[in-house]
Order: sequence, then structure tokens, then C-alpha cells
Amino acid sequence: MKIDIDVLKKLEKSIDTNNPEKGEVPIKILGYGEISLVFELLNDPENIAYKRIPIFDNEKQVKRHIWAYNEYNRILKEDVGLNLPEYDVAWFKDDEGKIQFYCVQEKIPSESVGNIVIHQLNNQDINTSILLVMKEMKKVWSYSKNHKIIDLGLDGQISNFSIIGYDPNNPKVDLSTKLIYLDTSTPMFRINGIEAMEAVLFLKSTPWFLSPLVKAAFLDEVIDRYYDWRLVTIDLIANFYKEQRSELIPGIIRLINKFFKDEASEFNMEPITFIEVDKYYKNDKMIWVIFQNARKIDRYIKTKLTHKKYNFYLPGKIQR
Ligand SMILES: Nc1ncnc2c1ncn2[C@@H]1O[C@H](COP(=O)(O)OP(=O)(O)OP(=O)(O)O)[C@@H](O)[C@H]1O
Ligand SMILES: [Mg+2]
Repeated sequence: MKIDIDVLKKLEKSIDTNNPEKGEVPIKILGYGEISLVFELLNDPENIAYKRIPIFDNEKQVKRHIWAYNEYNRILKEDVGLNLPEYDVAWFKDDEGKIQFYCVQEKIPSESVGNIVIHQLNNQDINTSILLVMKEMKKVWSYSKNHKIIDLGLDGQISNFSIIGYDPNNPKVDLSTKLIYLDTSTPMFRINGIEAMEAVLFLKSTPWFLSPLVKAAFLDEVIDRYYDWRLVTIDLIANFYKEQRSELIPGIIRLINKFFKDEASEFNMEPITFIEVDKYYKNDKMIWVIFQNARKIDRYIKTKLTHKKYNFYLPGKIQR
């Protein structure tokens, strides 16, 4: 992948995180997460997705993060056997000496990403896709189970998987369909119980007035959640509320419990219940609504009252 640092430097000079597509360097948003803004450069002959991650204060942090990112990708790809897009990083210090950091990936067709696909496939094929995701996740948790030193975390939401060879004009999947896992920019693994990624970085997008509270009350719990297959699976299921396909949830729960029983019995997984998923969703929804509103307040204080730059992109109203 050929990364043009000069274009990124130019982009950083004029980026307006309120309207990222309106800067001097034309970009198109491909997606966004809670921290990152994922985009492509328009008129770029290279097939690249850039994830802008504005969370680093110093070089030491960046270097550790690049090590963790490369190692996480390597383990998932070579040792676990997930399919990943080609990956790299790009970073530099801007004119003000601030660190600008990007994870770089081969661009995947947007229409093949899970949260789009589940609105195209028939219900049976959606179930098949869920099974494919469960099989990928089993590889991850089997690795951790068998590996004495390393524990892996994963974000199993449907928006983090893409279907290889997906044809939007003829949407279908079967059990031999292959998935790609996209969400590798937050390296989640522990060596002898120690987080590879610097834990404070998880807090960077938290508004300053919430961060002591989050750190004290929720941070460990939020991170731990990604290491627990059952909780990651509940999150995957609960996401179907947000995607407005909640009618599928009871069937998906049955399917997953059967998968745990028949294909992952060595994990002795307690069956997941509808009540649990429902409770998780309501709680999660509340937390994110509070969080997004707090970020808007933070942005207002920074940009309107103190005339500083607000570094994160906040998506518009999200239907949950
Ligand atoms: N390589 C890619 N090609 C095309 N689109 C992508 C690519 N990577 C990510 N996207 C799009 O961007 C969305 C968010 O990306 P990703 O899942 O990596 O970020 P996230 O982890 O959810 O964000 P954050 O780390 O900030 O919480 C994806 O759901 C997908 O729609
Ligand atoms: Mg994601």
C-alpha cells in the first residue's frame, strides 16, 4: 500500500472534525467508531481506508501502540487464522508538533460490511452469517484457552466483519463463505495479564469531566468485556436492536446457544437468555447516549467557549 504522508499532512492542516468531508483534501467517510474516523481519499488510485486516531500525546505512546497493533494483527492473522485486510500505520508530527496517527488498511467494499449486509440477506442467510462469525470467534477464544501467556480480546459486532466476494446484486452466503475481520485498530491482547495497549488511551475520547469517573468506575469492566466470549456474543446479539432487526433476536439466541452446545462444548458456556440481552441493550444504550451527549458538551466547551480544536468526529443522531 502506498501511503502519501504529504496528503495526510495537508488534510490535518485543514480538517474540521465537525464537517470532515468539507476540508481542503476531499475525503469520503467510510464509517466511524467511537474514537476513529474511517475514510478514503477521493480520487486516490490506491485502494486504502484510513482510520484517524487522535489520541497520542508523545512518541513513546505511539511506538508502543504500533508494536501492539502490529503484534495484534500478526497474532490474529498467523496464529489464530482470521482473514484481515492488508494493514499498516502512518504517523507524523504536524506543524504544531502534535502527533497525528492513522491506521491504514486495504479498503473493503462498503456494501460487504456486516451491518449493511444484514439488511440485504434473507433471514436464513443472516443466521448463516452469525454462525460464520461465531466460528471466527471460536478460533480467537480457542487460541486464548490454549495459550498460557497471551489472552486475546475481540469486538464481535457485525459491523466489524465483511463478507469476501459479496455480490450486492445477488446477496447470499453459505457455510463455505469467508469473512474478513476489520476492527484491529484497538489492539486487545494481554501478556501475562498485562494490557498490551496503554490503558489510558482507551479514555482519550472520554470528555475530561467524565474521565475520572469512568476510570474509577467503568474502565476495567469495559475493557474486560472484550475478553469474555459470552459478553462479546451478547453484544453482537444486542446490536440487532440498534440495527432495527430486533425481530431476529430470539432466533439468533437459539442458534448461538446451539452452537455453544454442539460446536464449542469445551467452553461450557451458560446459555444466553433473551432477558439478559434485553437488559444489556438497555444499559448499553443509556451509557452511549450519556457519553455522546457529554462529548457534544465537551466539543461545545472546547470550540465555542475556549476556541480550541475538538479532535474527534461525532456522528449525527444515531438510531438505537
Ligand atoms: N478497511 C476498511 N474498508 C472499508 N470500510 C471500513 C474499513 N475498516 C472500517 N471500515 C468501516 O468503518 C467502520 C468502523 O471501523 P472499525 O470497526 O475499524 O472502527 P471501530 O473500532 O468501530 O472504531 P473505534 O475503534 O473508534 O471504536 C466499519 O464498521 C466499516 O463500516
Ligand atoms: Mg467497529
